[in-house]
Amino acid sequence: MAKDNLLVGLDVGSTKVAATCGEIVEGMINVTGFVKVPNNGVRKGVVTDIEDTVSAISDALEKLERTCGTRISSAIVGISGSHISTSISKGVVAVARADGEIGRSDVERVLAAARTVALPPNREIIHVIPRTYTVDGQQSIVDPVGMTGIRLEVEALVISGATAAIRNLTKCVYQAGLEIQGLVFSPIACAHRMISKKQKEIGSMLLDLGGGTTSLAVYEEGDILHAAVIPVGSSHITNDLAIGLRTSIEMAEKIKIKYGSAIPDKVRESEIISLSQFAQGENQRIERKYVSEIIQARLGEIFALINQELKKIGKEGMLPAGVILTGGGSKLEDLVEAAKEELRLPAAIGVRNIDMGGFVDKLADPVYAASVGLMLYALEESKGNFSSFSLEGGVIGKAKSFFKQFLP
Ligand SMILES: Nc1ncnc2c1ncn2[C@@H]1O[C@H](COP(=O)(O)OP(=O)(O)OP(=O)(O)O)[C@@H](O)[C@H]1O
Ligand SMILES: [Mg+2]
Repeated sequence: MAKDNLLVGLDVGSTKVAATCGEIVEGMINVTGFVKVPNNGVRKGVVTDIEDTVSAISDALEKLERTCGTRISSAIVGISGSHISTSISKGVVAVARADGEIGRSDVERVLAAARTVALPPNREIIHVIPRTYTVDGQQSIVDPVGMTGIRLEVEALVISGATAAIRNLTKCVYQAGLEIQGLVFSPIACAHRMISKKQKEIGSMLLDLGGGTTSLAVYEEGDILHAAVIPVGSSHITNDLAIGLRTSIEMAEKIKIKYGSAIPDKVRESEIISLSQFAQGENQRIERKYVSEIIQARLGEIFALINQELKKIGKEGMLPAGVILTGGGSKLEDLVEAAKEELRLPAAIGVRNIDMGGFVDKLADPVYAASVGLMLYALEESKGNFSSFSLEGGVIGKAKSFFKQFLP
């Protein structure tokens, strides 16, 4: 039997499937299991092979069930990929109550109105995230519930994705035998875990350096301002190394992880890497500085694309609370310093911002950032603190009332 108070975060990434599970105890998550298995069915954040992806999810699920000792029947699933795009939508409604007091239902109606944005038939909404409300012309209201007025307006950020990409992902999850409690754009889940309210207020960016993608979510004045997924990630660095050093991909990956640096100037001219340590019969010797130069070239491209996204919203070099880095790619040596230089912003590796119990130290690995973030996001959603809609007819809404019984 699956436990009732169980939350599972499922991150189907371009290099791995990561899943974490935890129990809601007194309104907090106690993490009871985490797993990571390689995945070959996703490219650049999008499912390209259903069979491989289903098999990776099933494998992860089986291992997770074994570690946490309970059956798992549903999960909160992260979605990413360069098909994701954002737009601004507005909604207007008349306040329902005769005395003009704005209630939760008015807010839900105005968000539903913002949701009726015209999208091409091949796209679907993933989130409608309220940015600011206006009550009878008074702008910049954060939470209108309890206020009095006649006309309620909202400006919301709509995050949408390609129908085919969304369907292929959900199909894989269903085929692996899981119900989907909610579909959440991964960087938002990571940001929820790693960026404090204050940092979101001042201006900050979550940057997830994954294998096949680099995704970002920008916050200011407490609201999400922009989000994007760039189809270039750390695997591209590995591929460049394989070509530049004439080695296999596996060897290039090992070299990147053990000897890679994001800044060639930090590497001494004399440092030589002997490849014999990685494979028998291999006698090639390479300069570590050259490895770093190859890495720097690809990172330069990634940072330029990030700056382009920031430029679109007038925030290039303009986020005082800086960049919070996560994802496996962020573990590269000297990456934080390179990010500071290239983005002209403060930068740091993301740490948890919300208290949890259980295997907390193990989950500090940025590879689990999204799956843990998904659990925390769902918990917050269940407390009614978010009002973003999720796909599949507001599945999170159903989860909300379900989890409520476990909250203090
Ligand atoms: N110590 C390390 N140094 C450098 N790179 C690393 C290190 N550890 C992992 N990586 C890289 O991180 C990448 C995987 O990161 P992550 O698990 O966040 O990606 P993903 O979620 O599978 O992909 P995506 O989010 O793009 O769909 C791989 O390219 C891997 O080489
Ligand atoms: Mg990822």
